[in-house]
Amino acid sequence: MNQSKTYYITTPIYYPSDNLHIGHAYTTVAADCLARFKRMQGYDVFYLTGTDEHGQKIEKVARENNKDPKSYVDAIVANIKELWKTMLITNNDFIRTTEPRHEKVVQTLFQKVYDKGDIYLSKYEGWYCTPCETFFTERQLVDGKCPDCGREVELLQEESYFFKMGKYAPRLLEHIEAHPDFIQPESRRNEVINFIKSGLEDLCVSRTTFQWGVPVPMNQKHVVYVWFDALVNYLSAIGYLDNPEQFNRYWPADVHLMAKDILRFHAIIWPTLLMAMDLPLPKKVFAHGWIMLEGGKMSKSKGNVIDPRVLVDKYGVDAIRYYLVKELNYGQDGFYSEEALVNRINFDLANDLGNLISRTAAMIIRYFDGQIPAPGQAAAVDEELKQAASRAYEEATRQLDRLDFNAYINGVMRLVGRANKYIDETEPWVLAKDPQQHQRLATVMYNLAECIRIAVIMLTPTMPTLAQRVNEQIKFWEDVSALTWEEAGQWGLVRTGTPVQKGEVLFPRIDMKKEDTAVNESVNQEKPAVAEKTEEKKENEYITIDDFARMDLRVAEVISCEKMPKADKLLVLRLKVGDSERTVVSGIAQYYQPEDLIGKKVVLVANLKPTKLRGTLSEGMILAASDDERVEVLMVHSEIPSGSRVK
Ligand code: MSP
Repeated sequence: MNQSKTYYITTPIYYPSDNLHIGHAYTTVAADCLARFKRMQGYDVFYLTGTDEHGQKIEKVARENNKDPKSYVDAIVANIKELWKTMLITNNDFIRTTEPRHEKVVQTLFQKVYDKGDIYLSKYEGWYCTPCETFFTERQLVDGKCPDCGREVELLQEESYFFKMGKYAPRLLEHIEAHPDFIQPESRRNEVINFIKSGLEDLCVSRTTFQWGVPVPMNQKHVVYVWFDALVNYLSAIGYLDNPEQFNRYWPADVHLMAKDILRFHAIIWPTLLMAMDLPLPKKVFAHGWIMLEGGKMSKSKGNVIDPRVLVDKYGVDAIRYYLVKELNYGQDGFYSEEALVNRINFDLANDLGNLISRTAAMIIRYFDGQIPAPGQAAAVDEELKQAASRAYEEATRQLDRLDFNAYINGVMRLVGRANKYIDETEPWVLAKDPQQHQRLATVMYNLAECIRIAVIMLTPTMPTLAQRVNEQIKFWEDVSALTWEEAGQWGLVRTGTPVQKGEVLFPRIDMKKEDTAVNESVNQEKPAVAEKTEEKKENEYITIDDFARMDLRVAEVISCEKMPKADKLLVLRLKVGDSERTVVSGIAQYYQPEDLIGKKVVLVANLKPTKLRGTLSEGMILAASDDERVEVLMVHSEIPSGSRVK
């Protein structure tokens, strides 16, 4: 434990114009995962989130709801706080920009930069749309009209304060060059560099067209620009004015986490403001991608949002957090669908993780009276498992430190898959039949328990209630709240004699077809993830996702097809699979004429062992559905090219 090491992580402060959706939940859960990981590593973590409550948009939506802005946002902020509680978010503080502790800091810093000569009064000229209350530049207009509502605009001048942002461009570029980790991922960093190089203008940092904001200290006609106001939250919340000791402990922030939409504010405006404020820059600004819906980006204005509360009620908080943390590939966008979510729950959590735990627990109960036995001599396969665990630990640590959440989850789940495979390889139910193999069986059980312990620790930042729930079956820990990350890096910490008992299904399988209302109990009873039957029977019931992934299914284009001479049932197909070609013999001649198939795209099992049929080498098999009378070859009807994977 090293409490002298601090870690300060922030999310954006969200607009409380409406309730939040799973896009916001993504950032907040990902940041929470990091905060928990760092705490488990012994860091003194400060995790900050909050709400950005000023500005014209908030003022407008409050008015539309016949409320004053403050009472309008109060109700939404209460919901947001409740949401974060439901999602087990461990923020250390929640900052609201309407709090006096914040407004004071905004005014102090505005004054400081003004006194320094980096903020000056001038005129802002632009095309103003009165109904939208927004200025546009000439370039933003569409056919000379407002780009938002299409109405006439007029050229107006507004007195404004400007921040000399351009002055800091060379220093910012230097900083970005000298600190490769400052803006991540890499591709975003390059975008920001190009943007700065194309020239930075001075920034308008006050408004006079509306009232709902922090008054400019030296001129009460103006309110501070909402982004100046908002960004300062990262300083005000940790006590810039009130608590210098705490401020100095946590500033500069280790990570500002957000999506790509607001990267420029954080990677250009914010650092230049900090330079003008004579404050050090944050260590890292990280922009993840967006969670999209089929119709595009989820947004309140489009009305196509997914409420995280509904999902948590339906599927449980651990499962939703797991889905979110895994969902976005590093820096990329991803698509939300309830089907994908249910698949994650069924494949990853119920099948892979849940089954590993329930099978292991069931076997330890059956073969060792519910106590984890002492291991014996390690065989090669045991060493391999042990190494997989230590690799998974190293990788997960590295991936979390670089904020590659998806790779971290995949790594841990690979270990879970490896442990499931270890059960197949060691066949404990066979060992159990031979008293000579009792010691070997004990070793296998111990190693499985050890893998579970390690995987559960590594999943804890993502699934905070998992360890407690596992503990009710396998009592690994005295106090699950005291888990440390390092424990996952050590093999052999499971205590011999640890009690194991049967528990409830950790992740019930969800039947998507029946899943239009709440998860109903009967579904869970119908397909329990914990088998009541013997291990051997269970083996036949499920395959793991890894088993499935061993099948190489490909789209293949039929380039020629003919009947096999002297064989009624066989067709010989020549298939193009990406850049290569191969021959497949298929028993479908009674159902298809060769010309029915030529030019069509079929699904090929590409890694089936080649075999000779009537003297012709058949290199694979094509998939077909059949009943007593019919056979229908599965086909792909889109532009998807041959060679593409089917999964
Ligand atoms: N108030 C500003 C932020 C000020 S920070 C000093 C703001 N608020 S917001 O409510 O619009 O939140 C934007 C952020 O919410 C994104 O940067 C991202 O963190 C999160 N997301 C909102 N929709 C999202 C998706 N569809 N997908 C992923 N993240 C999303 O901007």
